[in-house]
Amino acid sequence: MSLIRVALAGVVAAAAVALGQTGPQAPARPDHMEHRFDNPEASAQAFDDPARDAWQLPDRVTAALGLKPGQTVADIGAGTGYFSVRLARSAAAPKVFAADIEPAMVKYVQDRAAREGLKNIVAVLAAADTPNLPEPVDVALIVDTYHHIGGREAYFRTLVKSLKPGGRVAIVDFRPDSPEGPPKEFRFSPEQFASEMAQAGYKLAAQYDFLPRQNFLIFEPAR
Ligand SMILES: C[S@@+](CC[C@H](N)C(=O)[O-])C[C@H]1O[C@@H](n2cnc3c(N)ncnc32)[C@H](O)[C@@H]1O
Repeated sequence: MSLIRVALAGVVAAAAVALGQTGPQAPARPDHMEHRFDNPEASAQAFDDPARDAWQLPDRVTAALGLKPGQTVADIGAGTGYFSVRLARSAAAPKVFAADIEPAMVKYVQDRAAREGLKNIVAVLAAADTPNLPEPVDVALIVDTYHHIGGREAYFRTLVKSLKPGGRVAIVDFRPDSPEGPPKEFRFSPEQFASEMAQAGYKLAAQYDFLPRQNFLIFEPAR
């Protein structure tokens, strides 16, 4: 191969990388962050740190969901139940499905709900591609978990079947400029969330800017 052809090949390869194209030998870029949460007691130290309330503003998030008595909500990726217990205790006292993919987390939330006398929490073992909700819900809340979900277009297309008529999906996840959160490649702008959710058949219903570290967007089915 002549020098010019080698140089040209380099330019073409560089352009492909710049365009985000991947060659046969380039490793596929993961669409989600793989991380096990199999030690609930250790996770609880961060998730349930009282200092979190100052930036998580759980009461404002809960109020923005506008839940009414008799409604149901899924806390998808519930973890140790930080939001589940607050939702369960909120004025609307909704039934809360606390869904998590980690069996240890599911048991932790189940025990926590029993300990705290919250009979309106039902712990659910989710699968990677579906939260396994036993019945449709009015709101699916997903806090700091969106970036852990793989194959999101298919996931959210499936999730729409678990929403009641008028049901919504509320996503709270770390902003690119947050002082803490997942690696930068797993933090998204509001436009990225909206674009991905549009591909899965949703439209933006509300966007809140009061959380200092996270985006907070609410989607509804576009149909
Ligand atoms: C960073 S923690 C957030 C916990 C909780 N939402 C909070 O704000 O404290 C993410 C949780 O999502 C769970 N998770 C990850 N992928 C999931 C999936 N596909 N479906 C349900 N839960 C998932 C993890 O096991 C973990 O408990």
